[in-house]
Amino acid sequence: MQKASRRWKRGGDRIALVPTMGALHAGHLSLIRRAAQLAERVVVSVYVNPTQFDSPADLRGYPRRFREDAVLAKRAGADLLFQPPNLYAKDASTWVEETDRSRGRCGNRRPGHFRGVATVVAKLFNLVQPDVAVFGDKDHQQCEVIERMVRDLFLPVRIVRHPVVREKDGLPLSSRNLRLSQADRRRAGQWAVALRRAAAAGRGKAKARYRKLVKSIQGVRPEYLELVNGRLFAAAWIAGVRLIDHRPCGRSR
Ligand code: PAF
Repeated sequence: MQKASRRWKRGGDRIALVPTMGALHAGHLSLIRRAAQLAERVVVSVYVNPTQFDSPADLRGYPRRFREDAVLAKRAGADLLFQPPNLYAKDASTWVEETDRSRGRCGNRRPGHFRGVATVVAKLFNLVQPDVAVFGDKDHQQCEVIERMVRDLFLPVRIVRHPVVREKDGLPLSSRNLRLSQADRRRAGQWAVALRRAAAAGRGKAKARYRKLVKSIQGVRPEYLELVNGRLFAAAWIAGVRLIDHRPCGRSR
């Protein structure tokens, strides 16, 4: 990977990286298309990073569709699909840990998750050596952590956040949605609508409105609900699948 990057750079090409864990969906494809507008070469990495999973069952159940991913990534504009088999030596003992933006929200509920993310993203940056890397704003806190890591460690890469891509009913696209039955998928959509409506009620009322709305959806187990910088962040479980989303307060869309 490093050799390919160096060759491209010698030829004057810029490199954009889209890091993913595979099971590519329309959200990823829009990241890849965006990347293609930002650089001459686009690398899509597909690596199910074990160190960011806090439950072995979640890691085991994570969808893996490498062959389909290759076709989709290429069609969306990827020049190279980077699928490393393993990025950790057996006795790996070096970690990247961001200690401010990774607090609260998902950070509280998934101990070690952002350490795993920051570490693997730093490894991917070192391997691919991109000029720019595109991340989905769906994982808003992840974007905050990565931006802080890049700033603090002077990593020579520009981070571009791409807006959340949503289904018609407002549910953010996520590889985990594939695990929902039809009925649960409907409930997930209702949950996303509840969050949007709650946020639209404004900062003062948002949390109470969310709790009320979510109570009326069957099978949803709310996890956290936090208001950070005027934005309402929530996580919830439906049939063993964890959903996250966020909406700015005081806007109806
Ligand atoms: O957002 C993801 O899919 C992952 O957290 C990432 C950035 C590819 C790191 O494994």
